[in-house]
Amino acid sequence: MANPTIVLLPGDGVGPEVTREAAACLARVAPDARLVEHAIGGHALDTTGESLPATTLDACMEADAVFLGAVGNPRYDSAPESTRPELGLLALRQALGAWANLRPIRVHPALEDCSPLRPERIRGADVMIVRELLGGIYFGEPRSLSSDDGERHALDTMTYTEGQIRRVADLAFRIAQKRRKRLLSVDKANVLACSRLWRAVVSEVAEGYPEVTCEHGLVDSCTLRILTDAPDLDVLLCGNLFGDILSDEAGALCGSLGMLPSASIGDRPGGLFEPVHGSAPDLAGSGKANPVGAILSAAMLLHHGLDRPEAAHQLERAVDATVADGIMTADVGGSATTAQFGDAVRARLEPNSPIDGSDD
Ligand code: IPM
Ligand code: MG
Repeated sequence: MANPTIVLLPGDGVGPEVTREAAACLARVAPDARLVEHAIGGHALDTTGESLPATTLDACMEADAVFLGAVGNPRYDSAPESTRPELGLLALRQALGAWANLRPIRVHPALEDCSPLRPERIRGADVMIVRELLGGIYFGEPRSLSSDDGERHALDTMTYTEGQIRRVADLAFRIAQKRRKRLLSVDKANVLACSRLWRAVVSEVAEGYPEVTCEHGLVDSCTLRILTDAPDLDVLLCGNLFGDILSDEAGALCGSLGMLPSASIGDRPGGLFEPVHGSAPDLAGSGKANPVGAILSAAMLLHHGLDRPEAAHQLERAVDATVADGIMTADVGGSATTAQFGDAVRARLEPNSPIDGSDD
């Protein structure tokens, strides 16, 4: 696909800073791409009164791929549900039919000492979290926050259909097949009905992949396994809420959540690509945000969204080389600013190397 359109949604907090670096990398390795910026989250609420304005949604639906920085602004913390920045992101995931969220976690050898965990606990860890993204308690109805006779109460609904579980499980097994062929499915089947269905359906899907070793684990024990046995883990298949929580925990393996990228894919070509970290309002504007998660999300966009694996690998190699050369942001023990790190990555991109797919 030549001249793809990529919608950039910088969003809130550190989102614009990390998006700037990712976009500058995309401009280098996919120079034919058209990058168009739109508003989402708190920034969109401020300017339009909506967290996902129609112009943004329309642009995303027509784009070849969407890149998002971060959403979330503490000013909206006590706002009613309809005016929360996060709602824009959830609605966008739903509109794009992005039911699977891939969150790869690789421990870079140069960063082993940055983790709060001992190096021998994390050395060589290479985990892929496959998170279901459009179901579970994030989207279940009814939901409410109300008050009766002065007593406030809240209701959320966790719900999963067999089909929602089957499609993400099938994808996770296909991913495991191309990796070390081990899949750990995370649930809370000793307590939750949703998890009992989850476990049953995953077991059925596993029968179609006899070469993949499938194990089921309770989420509380998996939380501990990430901290004690990460090198032993390959693919982790999780529901929406458990995947959200475990992926932040897994950030500790890499020394910082700022290192982790993600790809949200599903029904449509393209997809939504975003770093795992949030808007980190305390860091916004300080030049301290780590752009690795964003730049590697741009690499995932090239790979999964535009089918340009060579351009994606180029970008990944440049990030690896930058980190190997000791250039890092403060969260992982360095002194580079967000922009300096981005410049260093771009300085390590091979000049004039073939950019796959850009001229077909
Ligand atoms: C993430 C984030 C989002 C989520 C928020 C911002 C809605 O934490 O992508 O992990 O919970 O999915
Ligand atoms: Mg999260």
